[in-house]
Parts: sequence; structure tokens; C-alpha cells
Amino acid sequence: MWSFDYARIPPISFGAGKLTRLPQLVRQFRGQVVLLVTGGTSLQRSGKLAWVKNLLEQSGMTVHHVACDAEPTVTLIDGVVTSYRTLSVDVVISIGGGSVVDAGKAISAMLPHDNSIIDHLEGVGRGVAHSGVKKPFIAVPTTSGTGSEVTKNAVISEVGVAGYKKSIRHDNFIADGVIVDGELLTSCPRDVTAACAMDAFTQLLEPFLSPTVSPLTEAIAWSGLEALKDSLLPACGTAAADVTVRERLAYASLLSGIALANDGLGIVHGLASPIGGFFPIPHGVVCATLVASSVRANLRALRQRAPTSPALKKLARVGALVVDSSERRGDDSCDALVDTLDQWTTILQVPKLSQYGINDHDLEKILDLAENRNNPIELTRAEIRSLLEERL
Ligand SMILES: [Fe+2]
Repeated sequence: MWSFDYARIPPISFGAGKLTRLPQLVRQFRGQVVLLVTGGTSLQRSGKLAWVKNLLEQSGMTVHHVACDAEPTVTLIDGVVTSYRTLSVDVVISIGGGSVVDAGKAISAMLPHDNSIIDHLEGVGRGVAHSGVKKPFIAVPTTSGTGSEVTKNAVISEVGVAGYKKSIRHDNFIADGVIVDGELLTSCPRDVTAACAMDAFTQLLEPFLSPTVSPLTEAIAWSGLEALKDSLLPACGTAAADVTVRERLAYASLLSGIALANDGLGIVHGLASPIGGFFPIPHGVVCATLVASSVRANLRALRQRAPTSPALKKLARVGALVVDSSERRGDDSCDALVDTLDQWTTILQVPKLSQYGINDHDLEKILDLAENRNNPIELTRAEIRSLLEERL
């Protein structure tokens, strides 16, 4: 029997040129005063920031702009909210990567309130439940990785010895509108594109393998994997300026957000949180660097301890998909998946953990906080340590 609950999916406008619909979308929320959240420089450099501000202002809107050049922190969110709380902001719009979308989501959640966001951060603050009252929020992703445009949480980081990556979360925080415009994506740099695409792949594979996955998420994740397998390498190479290729990645990323929001994530993301809290390493890079070694560890553990697990058949299906084999070759296809992920890691020159200052003596504290939740098999501490060591 099937039994599942599904989170709300926001209205989505997908396609080249759809950004021109932004004023129309803002007007749906009776928006006159807009707070535009972007990244540090790339949107400015490309001229798109001036273009968007002009588009909104020509529609009679007042636009305030705030730039976030790093993953959002409590200090950043509290600071922006304090500065703009009295300016009658009607709608918050994020145009940028996952950090920018998370920042805008958190700002929209906190603008109607006068307390610090830390009160609502899971596992960090006072555990105060958020009322769900927020400002309307529109997400326009410009990288294809986190899927934050369709999730109900915003990740807030404090990096350091006592660092963390924790979420503020509420069903109401799901964006009220999403625009995915391929023309915005072509200027995303190669290294960011590569890390985000590998993260999107991980966010499709991990829910797909979840022991509690719904048939709806299986279908969504599969569609995303189909779109991603042929666009990942071209988007990082000769087809970087090809809007169609970029769209495929953006589609995969969008679906990865829906999949993870509903059926959870596995060991890669169970490690990404503590690693990203302790060290200044982008989320996409952690996932990109660990996905091949994690799939290898899962495959080995499944073969040893759960040889009849449905996850093995699913890994074989994904393996056959990524190598374009119409024949189901069982175990061989599982190995083909691992080989392909190793090749992608090499071709895309995915950095190793040590390039971000992570060494052997850091592994124990990472392992203490690692989570196996929704992984297809419970990995032992030694197995997790080993997959980390592969990428030091
Ligand atoms: Fe991720």
C-alpha cells in the first residue's frame, strides 16, 4: 500500500525570458515596496541587477537592494531585518544561488517580527516555534544546485570550532513564486556550476534511494536524473553558454529540491552539515567531493549486509541511465555508476576536503555529528570514516 504526504510546490515559471514576468508576480501580492536580495557581484557585473531594478521601478515599484556575499548568518539576517523592518517592505525577492535564496527566505520570515532569528534555529536557539507569519517571497535561482527555491527551510551558518549549519523551517516559508530563467544561468562560473550540479545529482539520488521514498518522489527524482546526466558535463565545458543545457540543469536542481523536501537525504548530506559548520567550504563542494565515495561505500555495505535491498536495483537503474545502457546489467550497472561518478569528479576537478583545511585529525568530530538518516543502509562509523579519508 502507498501512503505519503506531499509538501506544497510553489507556482513555477520556467523558461528563457520568464524573468520579465517578475513585476506581474510582485503585483499578485499587492507589492509596491520590494526588497531585492542578491549575491555579492555577479549579477551586478552581468548588468542584470540594473536591468531587474529598472524593470521593477518602471512598473511603479520602490526597490531596496541588499547584497549577501556569503552563506547567511544570524548576524546578517538580524542586521538586514533591523534595517528594513520599518520600510514597509511588501515582497522579498531573491535572485542568486542557494545562499541568496536562503537569505531572502529567512529575511521574509523575520521581517514581520522583532526577535532574533536564532530563537527559531533548530538545535541552536531557544526552540521557539515560528508563527509562520512572513512577507511574500519570490525566488529566482541563478545557480542550479540547492533546490532551495522549493523547500520550506533556510540554512543559517556559523562557521568555526563551535560552528553549525542549522535551519529555520515552516510550511509557510516555501516560496510564493519561483522563476527559473535559463538566460540568467549562463554566466554561472565553471567551478560553481560543477559543484552545484553534483549537489543536484546527490539531492536526486539520495531521496530516490531513501527507504521511505514515495512513488511520486521516485518519478520526480528520475525525471531530474534524466535531465541532469546529459547536461552536467556540457554545462561545465563547451556548452556553458547554451541556454538549453543550462535549463536542463536548472530543471534537475528544481526537482532535487522537491525530492529532498519530501523524502530526505542520505549520508552525503548527513556529513555536509557538520563539515560546512566547522570549515569554510561551500555546500555544493562538500556534496560534489563526497558523492562518489559515498555511493561506493553504500554499494559495498548493501552487497555485504543487505543483498536483497531494493536500493541495489535502484543503483543499477541509475547506473544504466548515466552510461546510456538500455540493458539492465544488475551489479555491473552499479559499478558503472560509481565509475561515472569518479570520472565526473576527476573531469570537473572537484576539490578535495584538505584544500579547505580538513585533515585526518578533524574526522572524529565530524563523525560525532554525522547523520545516516534516510540512507539506504546504516553505515558504520568506520565505513563513514573511510569514505571521508578517500577525499582528504
Ligand atoms: Fe545539497
